Amino acid sequence: MFSKRALRSAIGGSGAALLAATAALIAVTVPSAHAADPPLRDLAAAKGVYMGTALTASEATGASGPIAGAQFGMVTPGNEMKWDTVEPSRGTYNWAPGDSIVNFAQAHNMQVRGHNLVWHSQLPNWLTSGSFSNTELHSILIKHVTDEATHYKGKVVHWDVVNEPFNEDGTFRQDLWYNQLGSSYIADAFTAARAADPGAKLYLNDYNVEGTGPKSDGMYNLVKSLKQQGVPIDGVGFQAHLILGQVPSTFKANLQRFADLGVDVAITELDIRMQTPSDAARLQQQANDYTSVVNACLGVSRCVGITVWGVSDATSWIPGVFPGQGAALLYDDNYQPKPAYTAVRTALGGSTTTTPPTTPPTTPPTTPPTTPPGGGGCAVTYGVNQWNTGFTANLTVKNNGSAPVNGWTLKWTFAPGQTVTQAWNATVTQSGTAATATNLSYNGTIAAAGTVDFGFNANWSGSNPKPTGFTLNGTACTVS
Ligand code: XIL
Repeated sequence: MFSKRALRSAIGGSGAALLAATAALIAVTVPSAHAADPPLRDLAAAKGVYMGTALTASEATGASGPIAGAQFGMVTPGNEMKWDTVEPSRGTYNWAPGDSIVNFAQAHNMQVRGHNLVWHSQLPNWLTSGSFSNTELHSILIKHVTDEATHYKGKVVHWDVVNEPFNEDGTFRQDLWYNQLGSSYIADAFTAARAADPGAKLYLNDYNVEGTGPKSDGMYNLVKSLKQQGVPIDGVGFQAHLILGQVPSTFKANLQRFADLGVDVAITELDIRMQTPSDAARLQQQANDYTSVVNACLGVSRCVGITVWGVSDATSWIPGVFPGQGAALLYDDNYQPKPAYTAVRTALGGSTTTTPPTTPPTTPPTTPPTTPPGGGGCAVTYGVNQWNTGFTANLTVKNNGSAPVNGWTLKWTFAPGQTVTQAWNATVTQSGTAATATNLSYNGTIAAAGTVDFGFNANWSGSNPKPTGFTLNGTACTVS
């Protein structure tokens, strides 16, 4: 039987159920380390929620990118959809940074949380120092909300329409918007966002509202009154920038009381900071704290998902804003999963082991490093199984050289319209028709005369020919 949550997620077109089904299919047909150790996104989907991460454009092209694409089913641009980036001068829009995150999401079968349309921070100077009349400021606000929500129409599943409108005591924050327009700017922004993109779920988002208290009460009263007035609000986001050992005990009950108002709830910017450097005891406490947060969400049927505010401690915003603190995320400075990662995986129903159970390498790890396939080149076997718009490709890469290859990158050129959506046993990235596959930690070595297998799902349009121009670490391969 479907739980209400699973049903909603399937009907809501989130694709999570489909993704889980696809993952299950791959698990049956292509046994792999990936199948034995499902990523967080698949575990979350099986529970009827999403697991997301914030990602900036530079993180997407750096070491966080492959982890984000593999582990998370939702992405929130870290900065790329904020006002100062999107509308740096009045009426002139700069969509490229936000678009790059949307493209990343689409290439990795992820959904997007738009963040954000109205906020007191990261506003351009022309806006904060413009001395506009109230009427003019109101029209600037509505135009920005309308234009941005229209640009991303159909591409974002949630919008943080209004971000951080409250003071700690639950009164409205005295920012540009409230001071000139009064609290009605909030309802007006939601109404404009709905008109521009009727398909997106519209969220109010804030921090320090995770447990019950004056700020959370202020938000509760606002949501209640917006619902009563028929303002189109669909969800409430709880940022959850938390402190080690201080997950509020009322988190779940608080999520539930908002849900009872008839809105979805989501954890939107989770991180749990500590004094640095971290140590084993703190990392264990952090793991327990992450477990509490995941359980709070899973305990509320209208909690639709959890987003962590970044992949790795290496690029987290915390040390820059809270000096002396950090280590707040699931991956450490070296992009290795922390106890908190294992805790989240376990809370989502995955395995409890700290070391991912992967297929053991077939060659001794002591093999000395070498460069391109020694002399003999390489041979790619490309098998394809296609249907009307999609296909699955399975590739075998043979090292024809007399020395092992340690660490491999296979490049090729697709035909126009061929787009990878999901890969296994390799990280596959694509830029236009240029594709690149790199080994994972467990299959980096191709023995002399040995092979490695990987595969991907992809879309195609037009015709679906075999790709061309395969090279292994820069050396051309034969293809059959
Ligand atoms: C942060 C980003 O992570 C930083 O890169 C940026 O310098 C400042 O903003 N609440 C929010 C997020 O809603 O947009 C903030 O993101 C973190 C706090």
